[in-house]
Amino acid sequence: MSANIESHLNENRVFKPAKDFVKKARVQSLAQYRTMWEESVKRPDKFWGREAAELTWQTKWKKVLDWKLPFAKWFVGGKLNVSENCLDRHLDGVRRNKAAILWEGEPGEKRVLTYAQLHREVCKFANVLKRNRVKKGDRVLIYMPMIPEAAIAMLACARIGATHSVVFGGFSSDSIRDRIADCQASLVVTADGGYRRGSIVPLKKNVDDALKDGASTIRRVIVYRRAGNEVAMVEGRDVWWHSEVEQVDAKCPAVALDSEHPLFILYTSGSTGKPKGILHSTGGYLLQAYATCKYVFDLRDEDVYWCTADVGWVTGHSYLVYGPLACGATSLMYEGAPNWPENDRFWKLIAEYGVTVFYTAPTAIRSFIRWGDEWVTKHDLSSLRLLGSVGEPINPEAWMWYHERIGGGRCPIVDTWWQTETGAIMISPLPGATPTKPGSATLPFFGVDAAVVDDEGREVGVNQGGKLVIRGPWPSMLRTIYGDKTRFRKTYWSEVKGCYFAGDGARRDKDGYFWIVGRIDDVLNVAGHRLGTSEVESALVSHPAVAEAAVVGRPDEIKGQGVVAFVVLKTGATVTPKLRDELRSHVGHVIGPIAKPDEVRITEALPKTRSGKIMRRLLKEIACGKAVTGDTTTLEDLSILAKLSASGE
Ligand code: WT7
Repeated sequence: MSANIESHLNENRVFKPAKDFVKKARVQSLAQYRTMWEESVKRPDKFWGREAAELTWQTKWKKVLDWKLPFAKWFVGGKLNVSENCLDRHLDGVRRNKAAILWEGEPGEKRVLTYAQLHREVCKFANVLKRNRVKKGDRVLIYMPMIPEAAIAMLACARIGATHSVVFGGFSSDSIRDRIADCQASLVVTADGGYRRGSIVPLKKNVDDALKDGASTIRRVIVYRRAGNEVAMVEGRDVWWHSEVEQVDAKCPAVALDSEHPLFILYTSGSTGKPKGILHSTGGYLLQAYATCKYVFDLRDEDVYWCTADVGWVTGHSYLVYGPLACGATSLMYEGAPNWPENDRFWKLIAEYGVTVFYTAPTAIRSFIRWGDEWVTKHDLSSLRLLGSVGEPINPEAWMWYHERIGGGRCPIVDTWWQTETGAIMISPLPGATPTKPGSATLPFFGVDAAVVDDEGREVGVNQGGKLVIRGPWPSMLRTIYGDKTRFRKTYWSEVKGCYFAGDGARRDKDGYFWIVGRIDDVLNVAGHRLGTSEVESALVSHPAVAEAAVVGRPDEIKGQGVVAFVVLKTGATVTPKLRDELRSHVGHVIGPIAKPDEVRITEALPKTRSGKIMRRLLKEIACGKAVTGDTTTLEDLSILAKLSASGE
């Protein structure tokens, strides 16, 4: 953590929002932000009550917040429907025939769905769900490529009060099976396949594999034909999306749901082997997704907004689907890879669609830098007015490149810190108000009381590292870990008394700006994807040749962090280069390709303390190729150290 702090400490450039940007912005000065922030934290009922009044409620709430640590209820007594707020309420005015989704497939097909058309498709699919016996409160698993039907399926669930759980298309069949088992889903929505870097990802086949033992709670699989690849349809279980929608009509009322009704479950990695089902609500979640789109992206009716995240991640939920649609915005959705067919696909898309607001991840930015500026300069990016970054700390070099090469020096950058658990943006500049500093997420959003504290919960001094905590509830906070309130309390609300803590370290500078250092728990951030070290460890030990495994991260120029696995083999297993590859693919098979270790190091034993705890600090140092420093007296077997250092390939 200290190395990171030091490199940031030398960063003192400040970029003020340009005058013409400020003039049109919703919040136009730091002073205005501070006044609004004060009110939002001291009088959340007043601030959030006013914001919530901009949404459509079928029944108005009686009380803005009911807080019994760690359980919050927002807009108690209020009833609303997320799909009505994202669709129906835009149908009366000029937005009726405005593009809601501009879509481009990786091979190049184009589709446009207006708000009226999207509404019609969502209503039809909601009727398909009902026809297939999905009821309010049932769980629906969505495993889709980046096509409009992914959003349609999500909104259709929301319309009838079914709780969706989207699984990223890059996850394996084992991951699908575990998630179905955890949330007891009754129906899967999938596609035959989706395109990625010119090949077809066999989504339906992965679903088949996940359901193959027959023990699952799934009664029905609805399959959208996207890629045309051959699939096996199981009689009595599988049906085609297309023939189902032909059987239903296009009218489907949006059910009035309690503000606290569970909208979705999204699984994310933690510090144990089992991913956690993060549960989000209806009213509070939608409100903060909406309000952050409005203030952080300063979204306007004339914007063409593009968030490059996959719907399988929380960014896709909040900033591809729910936030922008609640704002009535036009969103671009692109199915495939940034380097297909060539390295300039993103810039081509921006120029062609006239994208004005662009939101992507630092890992992508670092790849663009490596690919070279010539891919960028070929295209006219002058439509852009605002840039966003999310998913991991952005290094000042990448920030500057983004600012100059993509933003032409004129676009503010909003570096947005948040998490699957927080549901929406928590710390970020407001583009017309907050002077930015390369690498800093700057200041908390309205209603967010963030602080950096020590282990006793005391706020640390200027530029001192500590734990990033949130003091008190916010509208889009997770309500629980699905089915496990005890784990919810223990994981998030017990490390620092009275505060939410979810694994990040940070410091604040003299201006109160937050500089996020990154995870300080056993969670890695690989190319913006969150990965639990113990998850990868369990995957490794599920291989017949492996006795024990320890996984650590090491800095990686492009991905932020890379995965290094230390593996102890069972007696009798022999070390071959083939085995290392096999272990890597095994992890890819169990979790998904994103989890494959960059390096597998076979060792005779792992360094442990006398109480049997693996000494990860040592392993990290070895993985980085550094000499081992610090106290090693608690090591059980010191000779292990020498053996480990020699374990590289
Ligand atoms: C973790 C959350 C937020 C949606 C995508 C990831 C890291 C996220 C930033 C940022 C520094 C960031 C944190 C956080 N992170 N945004 N702007 N600056 N770090 O969601 O998978 O739940 O991961 O991503 O470490 O804890 P996630």
